[in-house]
Amino acid sequence: MDPVAAQYEAYPYPARDPAAEKTRLIVGSPSNLPELNHYLFAGRRDFTRPFRALVAGGGTGDAAIMLAQQLADASGPGGDAGEVVYLDLSAAARKTAEARAEVRGLDNISFHTGSLLDLPELDLGSFDYIDCCGVLHHLEDPPAGLAALAAVLAEDGGLGLMVYAPYGRNGVYPLQAMLRQLAGDLPLAERVGLAKRLIAGLPETNAFRRNPFLGDHRRGDAELVDLLLHARDRAYTVPELAELVTGAGLAPIALVEPARYRPETYLAAPAVLKRLAALDWLDRAAFAERLAGNVKKHVLYAASTGTPETRVAAPEDPEAVPLLFDLEGPALAKAVQRDLTLKAEFDGLTLRFPLPRLAPAILQRIDGRRSLGAIHEELHALDASLDWTDFLAQFRETFAALNGINRLFLRQPPS
Ligand SMILES: C[S@@+](CC[C@H](N)C(=O)[O-])C[C@H]1O[C@@H](n2cnc3c(N)ncnc32)[C@H](O)[C@@H]1O
Repeated sequence: MDPVAAQYEAYPYPARDPAAEKTRLIVGSPSNLPELNHYLFAGRRDFTRPFRALVAGGGTGDAAIMLAQQLADASGPGGDAGEVVYLDLSAAARKTAEARAEVRGLDNISFHTGSLLDLPELDLGSFDYIDCCGVLHHLEDPPAGLAALAAVLAEDGGLGLMVYAPYGRNGVYPLQAMLRQLAGDLPLAERVGLAKRLIAGLPETNAFRRNPFLGDHRRGDAELVDLLLHARDRAYTVPELAELVTGAGLAPIALVEPARYRPETYLAAPAVLKRLAALDWLDRAAFAERLAGNVKKHVLYAASTGTPETRVAAPEDPEAVPLLFDLEGPALAKAVQRDLTLKAEFDGLTLRFPLPRLAPAILQRIDGRRSLGAIHEELHALDASLDWTDFLAQFRETFAALNGINRLFLRQPPS
């Protein structure tokens, strides 16, 4: 058996307890429905209409469960508009994913065991959206894997990809090499024991020990195996990822969280920023990744056609509805009122984003239902001098900060 397949058969990843579905839904990037709508469909996708999603290398089911639940919720009671196809090499991982779907009573997922490399022959149809999270970097031939995904993508479809990034994983690869040297010939369970002993005694100068933002191995054995005893794993810089994606005939559309890929998030020197402003968005992202040095993984939305300008929702129209993710508008308004600053922490770095004067009043009114036009009307009633252009400028600044940390998306009327 292929060593990667054997690993995930023995240690399905991530470890999940199906009973936990009774109490919580795991929502994350890529593939959170409002997020993928924002980045790939300009916020205009109508999820009451048929929508087919493939989760390629679905593991123990996080993305398949999230998408199936969100699609079921979006299409309403009795609706069967959204359909999820789960595919993974590991029968053990599939078992957990199926058990999770059963606990939730989801009947809009079909489960398949097999390799994504065989997709063009599997006859599963074409897909409006493909999630491939943490999988391509484990393939012997990642370009062949992405080509197989591209072959089953619908004409205007999009993908949400996650691959490892090198700088934030500083220390991982030397430790992986040491563990291969030390115990590569032993059964995996024994290697887990030896790895724990080795980690416990790493010298202070060791790069893995000096990287405090790598904690997966502490969560459990499956996580330790995935991080340190992987049979095959590589990391991609932004330019390497862009090359992988364009090599498959796809267009890179957006990196998430956007603010982490903007040099101005970290720098203030006008002379430096002026030179960087001339670069295109992917070159600026490559610079920001090198500059911050703490990005452990990239989430990239890509598409078969279009550009960031045509595919990503932008705050322009009064009909656009802003949606906060994992935040409540009124609570957030209160939190930022005093110093008009949004704070966020990413892998050890605290970032501060200045907000405009009207940010609290705008955030107070964001509830996932009110449109920008409706919010403007309410504020205009309080201050008759606030015209649409001034309001939009204030909203755009607020949006840049919150969308930058991936907490604010836009939904638009379906076209
Ligand atoms: C790190 S896990 C990620 C699981 C899931 N996508 C997530 O993010 O939670 C990688 C998964 O990819 C699967 N995998 C690896 N190579 C594959 C292939 N060629 N075809 C399908 N699945 C594959 C593994 O079995 C494993 O379940």
